[in-house]
Amino acid sequence: MKERLQELQSEALEKVERSSTLSDLQEIRVAYLGKKGPITEVLRGMGKLSKEERPVIGDLANKVREAITAELDRKKTILEKKALEKKLEHETIDVTLPGRPVQVGGPHLLTSIVEEIEDLFIGMGFEIREGPEVETDYYNFEALNLPKGHPARDMQDSFYITEELLLRTHTSPVQARTMGEYQGSKPVKMICPGKVYRRDTDDATHSHQFTQVEGLYVDKNVRMSDLKGVLNRFAKQMFGEDREIRLRPSFFPFTEPSVEMDISCKVCSGVGCSVCKGTGWIEILGGGMVHPRVLELAGYDPKIYNGFAFGMGPERIAMLKYGVDDIRHFYTNDIRFLKQYHKA
Ligand code: PHE
Repeated sequence: MKERLQELQSEALEKVERSSTLSDLQEIRVAYLGKKGPITEVLRGMGKLSKEERPVIGDLANKVREAITAELDRKKTILEKKALEKKLEHETIDVTLPGRPVQVGGPHLLTSIVEEIEDLFIGMGFEIREGPEVETDYYNFEALNLPKGHPARDMQDSFYITEELLLRTHTSPVQARTMGEYQGSKPVKMICPGKVYRRDTDDATHSHQFTQVEGLYVDKNVRMSDLKGVLNRFAKQMFGEDREIRLRPSFFPFTEPSVEMDISCKVCSGVGCSVCKGTGWIEILGGGMVHPRVLELAGYDPKIYNGFAFGMGPERIAMLKYGVDDIRHFYTNDIRFLKQYHKA
């Protein structure tokens, strides 16, 4: 029995020595020290031994068990340490590596410009209103003093959906809707940004879909000088305090008198260059005093109320402000173009 125990010990220790994984160790532990293992078996057979032999063998069996346990534990610590080292090696972070650049998005130039225009007019007490892009003939034309058959309807070739429905050709219907909603009960001071549609052939300065921001102020005693003052503030804040504005007579069916506004050319400071085609001025928007008929149609008494309206294209504003040479850049979404206008 003595020999058998010693044999088991050296056999187990050799296996421990050769083992290379933690699961190998576990197997050895179960095989030699488990309830069904050979050492337990030896101890079970002790009943057959003499009284003198019994404590000697018992003592030896315990020593063998301790020796194997100690060796298993020692090897376990070594293997665990190795496993940890391997893991750490794997997970090492090289803090000297350059960082990976993170792609950060930003608002589209057109969005930024519209927001800038909105902020500017909110600062002057205007509220922001929106309306449908699929509009009725009534709000797009009739309510704006453009009855059916009016020759001025030809100015805006339209995308009709039915006889009575079309893609709005300007954002002015939002003004008619707002006035119609208030029915002469209170003053109106609003701007309406949004998409509009015209049957234009796309080129560097035309697009079948583009953006407008129109404004309307209706109250008692609104004067043309109020229009000029508001637009002057807008132009200076948008393009620089050194810009001058001028109003030229024009025609719109919904305003009387009507004007077009120019700003002094930034490139040549009014002297004349290729950007302003030698005039020193660049046209940026249209406007005028709201036609009495438009007020009347929306429930405002033109003897009590009057007002001004204006409309502009944010694409054009952005093109002038940033020197963008083709309106199609706004819609083709080439990230190299858009990126230049992302604010850090
Ligand atoms: N609705 C006009 C346009 O399309 C712009 C405008 C608005 C002019 C308000 C005068 C007053 O183009």
